[in-house]
Amino acid sequence: MCGIVGYIGKNNKALEVLISGLQQLEYRGYDSAGIAYIDNEKLNIIRSKGKIANLEKIINFDDKSNIGIGHTRWATHGEPSELNAHPHKCGKITIVHNGIIENYEELKNELLKYGYEFKSDTDTEVACALLDFLYNQENDILSAIKIFKEKVQGAYAINLICDDDFDCIYAIKKNSPLIIGVGENENFVASDVPAILNYTNKYIQLDDGEFAKITSDSIILYNKNNELVKKDIKEFHEKAEDMEKGNYDYYMEKEIHEQPEVIRKMTNEYIGSDMPDISNYKKIVIVACGSAMHAGLIGKNLIEEYSNIPVEVDIASEFRYGKLFIDKDTLVIAISQSGETADTLEAVKIAKSKGCDTLGIVNAYGSSIAREVSNVCYTKAGREIAVATTKAYSAQVTLLSFLAYNVAKTSKNKEDLCKISSFLSDLNKLPIIMDSILDNSLYKEIANILYDKNHIFFIGRGIDYALCMEGSLKLKEISYIHSEAYPAGELKHGTISLIDNGTPVIGIVTDEKIASKTISNLKEVKARGANAICIATDNINLGEDFYDKKIIIPKVNPMLEPIITILPLQKIAFEVAKLKDCPIDQPKNLAKSVTVE
Ligand code: AGP
Repeated sequence: MCGIVGYIGKNNKALEVLISGLQQLEYRGYDSAGIAYIDNEKLNIIRSKGKIANLEKIINFDDKSNIGIGHTRWATHGEPSELNAHPHKCGKITIVHNGIIENYEELKNELLKYGYEFKSDTDTEVACALLDFLYNQENDILSAIKIFKEKVQGAYAINLICDDDFDCIYAIKKNSPLIIGVGENENFVASDVPAILNYTNKYIQLDDGEFAKITSDSIILYNKNNELVKKDIKEFHEKAEDMEKGNYDYYMEKEIHEQPEVIRKMTNEYIGSDMPDISNYKKIVIVACGSAMHAGLIGKNLIEEYSNIPVEVDIASEFRYGKLFIDKDTLVIAISQSGETADTLEAVKIAKSKGCDTLGIVNAYGSSIAREVSNVCYTKAGREIAVATTKAYSAQVTLLSFLAYNVAKTSKNKEDLCKISSFLSDLNKLPIIMDSILDNSLYKEIANILYDKNHIFFIGRGIDYALCMEGSLKLKEISYIHSEAYPAGELKHGTISLIDNGTPVIGIVTDEKIASKTISNLKEVKARGANAICIATDNINLGEDFYDKKIIIPKVNPMLEPIITILPLQKIAFEVAKLKDCPIDQPKNLAKSVTVE
């Protein structure tokens, strides 16, 4: 998933807009970057390996330009290098591209026959050469784009400059996000609105198959059938300052500490208001990836426990290729912070083709998944900049908890109603409880135990296992330490052989009914030399104090417990990564939005 940006105006500020836009898009990928801009009727292309800061060092900001395109890359085809960085230029065409051209090899072989040569390993250079070939054939860039759309399979968001017309930019969109920012005597094209929010909050959302010709004072749009079309100009309501770190050194730390406010905001938004009723389905299937899938596992536990509806959680990239037992009586819930995850988006399309109702739990307003599903609940976590999700994950869990609560409160079963009697009172206390949990020096102490280890294990049962999976992912993705989450009862069926002296094992114990089992499992690993760290609720009798470290958190209504249990895991991962001086907000090899399959 890469970030692309384009500018055309009359104020000689193309370089400023391109760089500031790429800086806002760096979360989408940051292994190389580049810009192309026109200065005195000359096209300049500047690219560099590494982050935007490397690119800035080699740009001459004294150049005055009114038109340019830029790109920050997360490599899909070809290693991160200056040669593979975008923009790519072939003949008269220069482009930046986000997505994957699936049939690029076949196209490349064809173009080689026409004398095209390729310097990079990228699919993008092939797309560029094809556009140049078609432009030469049609002598009209819009005709070339129409044929391009027919010939190319895969996903692309493209900004294009043609040598024969330095007064416009072209934008082409299919299966990768792209918006057109609407300014005064200037217009923009970007992967998302925050990239240009310093200049305008007015934008036009491009849909699949659409393309546009953009000048400083006009935007000509074509729909997927290549017909001229008019589209609404929308307004983006988040503020640019929300993209700042405030008093924190890292976005992740800021976002961890924003979670109490997020819960407060979601409570005000959703409790007492109409939410989708999930009780009328024979089955619910949750499709998601990564942390969103982990949130889905918690949703499964809560919805099944409190509504007796069978819930299946499918990793979206697996769902797409499995045998599906879904139909009009199935609700498919797609969970996605970015709303752009390709596998999750495709899973929604498949679910709709099977006649399922679809519900999105999404953070990014107006994102592809939010627009594809038949109903959407926004998680209202605010923009999440750090690649490793925290507040958006907690907001997903919170929303799933609300959905389960809404079903549970309609129950005729006195026992069920008793289980949820403390839900609202605990929910109102949750932000204060969360603040107190976040303010604990133990996390730094535990980080000192973990930061130099090579392998760390997380164990738990039921919903605690789902939390272990998220805790393990957080640790891995920002500290680069290998870790695994295991059902507590499963560790002894093989993996316990990896437990050595000092191997850290973090056990989560929040369910009184099965607490003794997990405690026994922690004792088993302790007996084999492990460094046992326990995170437990204050109602659990942990017995004799054999733990190396323990973190006690308040017991709240079980439907809300996961929202607070994840906090120590997030903080521990953060402190470990900080000790290791890792690039916490932008870990290596990762990107915030995985818009490729
Ligand atoms: C989260 O820390 C990870 N970076 C990643 O697993 C993420 O949750 C996953 O890619 C799904 O993203 P989405 O919620 O935007 O669909």
